[in-house]
Amino acid sequence: MNVEASDHVKKAGGVAVIILSQWWMGNQTDADAFLHPASRVTYDDAEEIMKYLSQTSNPTAAIKFNGTQFGHRPAPVVSSFSNRGPNLFNGNIIKPDVIAPGSNILAAWPTEVGPNHTGTNKTFIMVSGTSMAAPHVSGIVALLKHNHQHWSPAAIKSAIMTTAYTKDRDGNPIKDQYEGENAGVFTMGSGHVDPVAANDPGLIYDNDPHDYIRYLCGMKLVNVSAVVRGPVNCSQVQAIEPEQLNYPSISVYLGAKSVSKMVNRTVTNVGDANSVYTVKVDNPEGVDVDVDPNTLTFNKEGEKQDFTVTLSIQGVSPKSGKVSEGQLLWDSGKYFVRSPIAVTFT
Ligand SMILES: *[C@@H]1O[C@H](CO)[C@@H](O)[C@H](O)[C@H]1NC(C)=O
Ligand SMILES: *[C@@H]1O[C@H](CO)[C@@H](O)[C@H](O)[C@H]1NC(C)=O
Ligand SMILES: *[C@@H]1O[C@H](CO)[C@@H](O)[C@H](O)[C@H]1NC(C)=O
Ligand SMILES: *[C@@H]1O[C@H](CO)[C@@H](O)[C@H](O)[C@H]1NC(C)=O
Ligand SMILES: *[C@@H]1O[C@H](CO)[C@@H](O)[C@H](O)[C@H]1NC(C)=O
Ligand SMILES: *[C@@H]1O[C@H](CO)[C@@H](O)[C@H](O)[C@H]1NC(C)=O
Ligand SMILES: *[C@@H]1O[C@H](CO)[C@@H](O)[C@H](O)[C@H]1NC(C)=O
Repeated sequence: MNVEASDHVKKAGGVAVIILSQWWMGNQTDADAFLHPASRVTYDDAEEIMKYLSQTSNPTAAIKFNGTQFGHRPAPVVSSFSNRGPNLFNGNIIKPDVIAPGSNILAAWPTEVGPNHTGTNKTFIMVSGTSMAAPHVSGIVALLKHNHQHWSPAAIKSAIMTTAYTKDRDGNPIKDQYEGENAGVFTMGSGHVDPVAANDPGLIYDNDPHDYIRYLCGMKLVNVSAVVRGPVNCSQVQAIEPEQLNYPSISVYLGAKSVSKMVNRTVTNVGDANSVYTVKVDNPEGVDVDVDPNTLTFNKEGEKQDFTVTLSIQGVSPKSGKVSEGQLLWDSGKYFVRSPIAVTFT
């Protein structure tokens, strides 16, 4: 869009363009593949430029390349236009699951295998944008599947989610560029992907295809036979409530009609054969979280352990629509298996 706009400026006799960002872009300036001199400035800088334009009868401008800037801070941040949760049809599963490199991270592919956007004969096409998070995650999935060939898709997803991080390179909470606040669970899910940590997660939350059928039947929203591509009779399937799916994050609704909720989870040991994990919980504001048992002892690889998480409103229920965030962490001293918790008050 900006590239087309700059083309029109060029056709109209302009020599260069300055693209002024909108307030909702935060401090992010995206790199576009402009075909003639162009610069993109933040909203704050845009305001300065507009002020200069209105106060000067003969304004002038120059674009100076200051070299590639390394070590940008803060980083990573969530793009203002990154898709947000909750899923309006199913808030009982936190969405998004994770964030991954996308905007201003160059992803490249040979021109032979893809569309030729620029009309130039470049060997590679490079793109940047939130869509590029998906190929980055796909690459991590391929790496994990290569290293752990027996892992299910759910196990791979669990490994990526429970090892994701929530702090930026300065150790501060990852920021959301849309409003300049710390990114919450419905902005970044479990956090930013960490491929090396995901390769050795300690514990996984696994699911098999039948678990998803039980979950889909419990949602009562979709034609399960069409999704599964085979006949499913939901009244013969032991359906589960969505929050009971053995997911690596927890999301429940609490209110006057449901002051407490118990969710069950099962973890599988994929770390050291002999290991002991203790639970560490950050309670969501206004909610008490009880985990039973609060220690898990494993004696072999592949061993499974169950636990229950009971989430209860403390005191007066906050007003409807408010979301409280917390986390549940299984800590072995070597492995840190983290699940975000979202409680939405009804
Ligand atoms: C130009 O680059 C230098 C060295 O990287 C940096 O210190 C400086 O802040 C940059 N100036 C601007 C206006 O970005
Ligand atoms: C890219 O587009 C240009 C201009 O249309 C064309 O000459 C060139 O062959 C294309 N390159 C590839 C690899 O398709
Ligand atoms: C791209 O390469 C082809 C084949 O070498 C050439 O015919 C064409 O003119 C080139 N196009 C551009 C835009 O450079
Ligand atoms: C943009 O940067 C300014 C100056 O560092 C800061 O005050 C502001 O909070 C930042 N905005 C966002 C959305 O991060
Ligand atoms: C559900 O999907 C199956 C398989 O595509 C189809 O045969 C069936 O008619 C659908 N049922 C409803 C109620 O739409
Ligand atoms: C689904 O199962 C129920 C209970 O067993 C049965 O009554 C019903 O006829 C079945 N529906 C179909 C479409 O087979
Ligand atoms: C969760 O586990 C507890 C203890 O094993 C059990 O009593 C309860 O029925 C389970 N709840 C669900 C929804 O499966």
